[in-house]
Amino acid sequence: SKGGYPHFMLKEIHDQPDCMRDCMRGRIVDDEIKLSAVDNFGSRLLHARRFIIVACGTSWHAGLIGKQLIEEFCRIPVEVDYASEFRYRNPVLYPDDVVIAVSQSGETADTLAAIRLAKDNGCMIFGIVNAVGSSIARETDTGIYIHVGPEIGVASTKAFTGQVFCFEMLALALGKANGKLDDKRYKEMVEELQVIPEKIEKILEQDDAIEHLARRFTYAHNFLYLGRGWNYPVALEGALKLKEISYIHAEGYPAAEMKHGPIALVDADMPCLFIATHHEGYEKIISNMQEVKARGGNIIAVATEGDEEISKIADEIIYVPSTINWLVPLLSVIPLQLLSYYVAVDKGLNVDMPRNLAKSVTVE
Ligand code: F6R
Repeated sequence: SKGGYPHFMLKEIHDQPDCMRDCMRGRIVDDEIKLSAVDNFGSRLLHARRFIIVACGTSWHAGLIGKQLIEEFCRIPVEVDYASEFRYRNPVLYPDDVVIAVSQSGETADTLAAIRLAKDNGCMIFGIVNAVGSSIARETDTGIYIHVGPEIGVASTKAFTGQVFCFEMLALALGKANGKLDDKRYKEMVEELQVIPEKIEKILEQDDAIEHLARRFTYAHNFLYLGRGWNYPVALEGALKLKEISYIHAEGYPAAEMKHGPIALVDADMPCLFIATHHEGYEKIISNMQEVKARGGNIIAVATEGDEEISKIADEIIYVPSTINWLVPLLSVIPLQLLSYYVAVDKGLNVDMPRNLAKSVTVE
């Protein structure tokens, strides 16, 4: 049931603090990460020549964050591919590669075909899957279930944060096991992961304010979402949410790429959403904002609580609690989910069943 919410999507957005708790249950115990996949397949995983993440849509965005996490904490190279491109490209695969399939439904046809191809080439298959017993889950050698409960809304929300949470735990567990991650950083991360649910709750308390803000943007036909580093995949995800349910053309870009083309589009009619939290690249993103401002652009910023400077440049601001670099996507994506939801509601659209989309894409 919708639990009193008007749409499944809104319920699922608001379920995210509990979903994160479910996701870590039995896996973060006494400030240690315990993953049976790492206990049972640790040496195979740690001796991987390379990880290759395959997925589609939102799950692919989670994969981009997974790449950054595994490379940062484990120093093992990671590639991320759209499952549909990977399967038809005749990719170079080695038997000591580990292929990670990311999927909410566990039934996406391209992702399933991608892991079958990898399996034929002798790779180990690791799943980050929500639907227990699904086709993808059954074809993997091991993995981590996302455990966020069934997702009904067509636009993926809690599955995304759940997938990112799984990557956080996986990268930390592997990084600790292979000695590339020092104890201090590991401890700091594990502690911070456990307070993420409360920090998400704080963002959700701004629901009304975000609804109010959203109404000011229903006029838009185009939107630009910009972020750097850890927030770059979040920019892609925010833009996808807006397209899917609000039917507004939106593009997500790494903010520095703006100069290489998209800036030509900027005018007073095209809002630009910057994810400008206090992390690596903050100064640079502020200068990207100035470039947009100079061209008459309308700026919405997602910023870190306490950042008052940003009001000098942003027209609208949504604050998120501060956190460490590697966890920020779990927070910065939440306001973007709400923004797309309220724009769609204000336009009178069917949020849970957007036109032309299916919850699980079992045909290619
Ligand atoms: C976006 C969305 C889709 C899915 C994609 C992959 O909101 O829901 O982009 O993420 O179709 O689906 P799964 O994760 O089920 O493999």
